Amino acid sequence: MATSVRGGGFVLPPAAAGRSFSSQSNLLSNRLLLLPKIGPVCAPRFCKLRSSSPFAVEPSATIIDGKAIAQQVRQEIAAEVSKMKESVGKVPGLAVILVGTRKDSETYVRSKKKACEEVGIDSYGVNLPEDTTQDEVLNFVKKFNDDPAVHGILVQLPLPKHISEEAIVGSVCIEKDVDGFHPMNIGALAMQGRTPLFVSCTPKGCIELLVRTGVVIKGKHAVVIGRSNIVGTPAALLLQKQNATVTVVHSKTPNPAEVTRNADIVIAAVGVPELVRGDWLKPGAVVIDVGINPVEDLSTKKGYRLVGDVCYKEACQVASKITPVPGGVGPMTIAMLLSNTLESAKRAYGLVDAAP
Ligand code: GUN
Repeated sequence: MATSVRGGGFVLPPAAAGRSFSSQSNLLSNRLLLLPKIGPVCAPRFCKLRSSSPFAVEPSATIIDGKAIAQQVRQEIAAEVSKMKESVGKVPGLAVILVGTRKDSETYVRSKKKACEEVGIDSYGVNLPEDTTQDEVLNFVKKFNDDPAVHGILVQLPLPKHISEEAIVGSVCIEKDVDGFHPMNIGALAMQGRTPLFVSCTPKGCIELLVRTGVVIKGKHAVVIGRSNIVGTPAALLLQKQNATVTVVHSKTPNPAEVTRNADIVIAAVGVPELVRGDWLKPGAVVIDVGINPVEDLSTKKGYRLVGDVCYKEACQVASKITPVPGGVGPMTIAMLLSNTLESAKRAYGLVDAAP
């Protein structure tokens, strides 16, 4: 067994060692800062090689094609938007507020607006300078809260340090909180007998991938690795709502590999490159990898490549189904944002019951 090093409660793969682990900040910064930070990871210590060829790896898992599924979801949304236009003469509207000039955030916001355009959703946006005050941002949120053509409001995170994320997220009216970040929506998700108006997009995308690929959730043991507000926590709550038995593994969990090995379904949302090795998985487990981590790769033009929180090569030998990175969960996040915006507009125009 190769050397492993303890990092923040997790036994990290060698290349991930030496960096502290904090689930939420790592997840967010790794998703947002596409900067190569570390060396190659996931040495092939557990890969089973085909006996006929000592070099070829024979993956047994079915690949969950998030890109294709997201495309299908978008087509369904486009058809519904078109129907809405015919029946009530309106289309959904999404407002996106961007503060500052982070390249990654600008890219995400552009992708979101383009995705809206492609399905016929109107997009409204403000790009504000880095030194915008909190009150100015709150005023824009208020303006969109009051605008009947806007059905969804998204304030791109992270915000500049002088602005309170809590204050801004809490100012979006819950009927337009298509990110599902408002404490009222997260609270309703946590409660029995309550249904949130919106569920945050990445965890919703994870569940959609499971459902659309025929994975039974009810009665299964699911392990969620990571407990961020944006992904881990809502993913665990959603799985529980779907009648799974859920365990959350986090940076203080004493033996994360042993706990994860009990899981029928694993959702890894921790922001540590290839933390989950093949021997963390029960044979036949379904693996949803939310991580998008840059790792140094000098053989590529950019000098880095993206890997997930799961060592894909190893997991492919053990899992029954697995999402790739990229092309797994990522494309579903924007598809779910469009879905939430459509749902909101349908509610606003009386095309569905007030509560889903
Ligand atoms: N920054 C990174 N991911 C997200 C997201 O899903 N929503 C918002 N508002 N900001 C983000």
